[in-house]
Amino acid sequence: MAEAEKKRVKVSIPSLFAKKERGEKISWLTCYDFPFAQLMDQAGVEMILVGDSAAMTVHGHKGTLPITMDEMISHSKAVVRGAPHCFVIGDMPFMSYQISVEEAIRNAGRFMKEGGCDAIKLEGGRRVTPMVRGIVDAGIPVIGHIGLTPQSSSMLGGARIQGKTAASARALVDDAKALAEAGAFAILLELIPTPVSDAIMKAVPDLLIFGIGAGPVCHGQLVIMHDLIGLFQAFQPKFVKKYVNISEIVERAFEQYVREVKDRTFPAKENEYEIDPKEIGKLKKMLKKA
Ligand code: KIV
Repeated sequence: MAEAEKKRVKVSIPSLFAKKERGEKISWLTCYDFPFAQLMDQAGVEMILVGDSAAMTVHGHKGTLPITMDEMISHSKAVVRGAPHCFVIGDMPFMSYQISVEEAIRNAGRFMKEGGCDAIKLEGGRRVTPMVRGIVDAGIPVIGHIGLTPQSSSMLGGARIQGKTAASARALVDDAKALAEAGAFAILLELIPTPVSDAIMKAVPDLLIFGIGAGPVCHGQLVIMHDLIGLFQAFQPKFVKKYVNISEIVERAFEQYVREVKDRTFPAKENEYEIDPKEIGKLKKMLKKA
């Protein structure tokens, strides 16, 4: 093991705040399984969100609402196994925290106890502060999520940019303050103009502020892994940068595999297993007798 590898320590809330103090930006990606979690851990990604976006990226649903707590726990376990150095956040799925404070605490607890996560994220501002308070009081770190909140996108009229008027931007600032008061240690801003993100950061200076489509001012950036590597093909938002088009590469590989099976170039000699010819001779005699 390399010397640098031996010294790596797990990312924690104090180490994230230390990065904020130093002005070091923080990288955050969604992830849903073991192999990609391993790659993220090895690449030095600091935070992983086991996002309810798994409903779309992995399970093929049209939106995030159908994914269940049990499915989210299963994804979390796999990610935590693959990323021992990353700070892993479980994303509370639709209807896992809206019904009551008690249910919110129970489900947040499942992410920590069964999933092995380090914190949870939930959507909403002032309307979810009782749940945030309850979860924090149970000793579970909470990240709020305001702006575009996909679980309520029907109410918001679709995937629209939020905070585009002074009044709606003011409402976001009030949501951020309420989350801070309720005990959230960080907030994710989604699909918000950069100057509004800046105003929110100034209103809650003690919190870590992350953005997904919320501009470079934020302390860290979150991107959906499938968007970044070109594995989600339905649509691509403007704020996404595709670093590689893995779909193309993988599809070419699958096509080549099909061709090689058909034309018998796969499996080749080097993919076969050997047996001592004497043993085969014996086998043939045995079979003849039988
Ligand atoms: O589940 C997720 O990936 C998210 C992002 C859309 C922010 O919550």
